[in-house]
Amino acid sequence: MKKIGIMTTGGDCSGLNTVINRIVLGATNRGWRMVGIIDGTDGLCVRPANVIEMNTDTVPIERARLAGSFLHNGNACTMMNFESAVKNGRMKQFNKMLHDSLTALKLDALVLIGGNGSFSLSWKNRDIYSGLSLVCIPKTIDFDIPLTDRTIGFDTATNELVKYCDQLLLTARSHHRWFVVQSMGRECGRLALNAGVAIGADAIIIPEIKFSVDNLIKHIRGVDHDYGIIMVSEGITIRGSSGRPADMISRKLTAAGIMNRAAFPDYIQRAGDTVAGDRILAAKMATAALDAIENRETYVMTALRGNECVTIPLSEFYESGDIARDPNIPDLYTSNAYVEPDDPLLGVAGAMNIYIGDRK
Ligand code: F6P
Repeated sequence: MKKIGIMTTGGDCSGLNTVINRIVLGATNRGWRMVGIIDGTDGLCVRPANVIEMNTDTVPIERARLAGSFLHNGNACTMMNFESAVKNGRMKQFNKMLHDSLTALKLDALVLIGGNGSFSLSWKNRDIYSGLSLVCIPKTIDFDIPLTDRTIGFDTATNELVKYCDQLLLTARSHHRWFVVQSMGRECGRLALNAGVAIGADAIIIPEIKFSVDNLIKHIRGVDHDYGIIMVSEGITIRGSSGRPADMISRKLTAAGIMNRAAFPDYIQRAGDTVAGDRILAAKMATAALDAIENRETYVMTALRGNECVTIPLSEFYESGDIARDPNIPDLYTSNAYVEPDDPLLGVAGAMNIYIGDRK
C-alpha cells in the first residue's frame, strides 16, 4: 500500500481544503494511506514529525469549501526556522532535518500545495525530497506562477474583491465620491486587472504598466459620472511618494479636488468560501497529482492547460518567467508570472474606457 503525505505551505488562500479533500478521496479510492503534515515544513522540523492520519472525515465534504487550511500553513514559524537557517549558514542542516523527517515517515510521495516561494525552494533544495515522488500543486491568489492557466485560489479571491467593490459602489454613488481600492497580488497585477474588469472600474493601475497620476486625473475628470472604483494593485510605486499605494493615489486625487476614499479589502481576498471554478480546478489538479504519483513522476507541478490538467517539470517552472527574487532569501522567488503586454484583457479594459495606464 502506498503512503502519501500532503502539506500546505506559504500564504493561504481559498481552495486548499478542497484540494486536500479531493486528494484524500482519490487516494482512498486507490487504496492508499494518507498522512497530513501539520504547519507545512514546520511540521517536519520537530521530532517526531507533526503528522496526522487522514481519511475522508478529516476534511469532510461539507467543510471542503472553507478557506484556510485544515493542515495549517505554518508561515510565521517556517520563515523563522528558515530565515535563521539562512542567516546562520545552516541551510544544509535545515534541509537534512526535513529530509530525515520525510525518510522516517516512509512516504512514497509528497503532495505539496504551495506557491512560488515553496516551488523554487523545493527545486533548489531538491535533495530534501530524494527517495520519494514530489508533486506540487500551484495555489495563490496572486496567480503569479507561470506555465499554468490558473492557480488555486485566484478565482475565489477575484470574486471576493468583486463582492467588496460591488458594495462600495453603492455608498460611492450616495456621496458622489471615488474609492481607491487596493488589491493584493504582490508584483503581479492579474488580480487587480481581472477584478477591475469584472466590476467595471474606471481605472486599473498595475505594476506591469506605466501610468501617470496626471493622466489618471484627466481620465476621471473626463468620465460622465462622479463616483466609481479606481483599482490599484499593491505592487505599484509612485516616485517621490511613500505609504500604501491606495493612500498615495488617494492623496493625489484629493489634492486635485476629486472626492475620494482609500479602501483596503486585505485578507478578505484570501478568505471567501471557495467558488465553483476553484473547486473544479482543485479536483482536476488533485486527480493529475495522483496520476503523477501512480506513474512515479517526481519534481513536477500540476498545471492547467486549457481545459486539461497536466504535469510539468519543476525545473521548467524554475527557469521560466521574468523572475523577482526575494533580496533576503537566496533561491526564493516572490513572483515569476505577470500581466503580459499582449494580455487580451488589457484590450477589453481599454474598450470599456478603463484607464489602464499609458500603454502604447
Ligand atoms: O501571496 C499572497 C499574499 O496574500 C499577497 O497577495 C500579499 O502581498 C501577501 O500574501 C501578504 O502576506 P502576509 O500574509 O505575510 O501578510
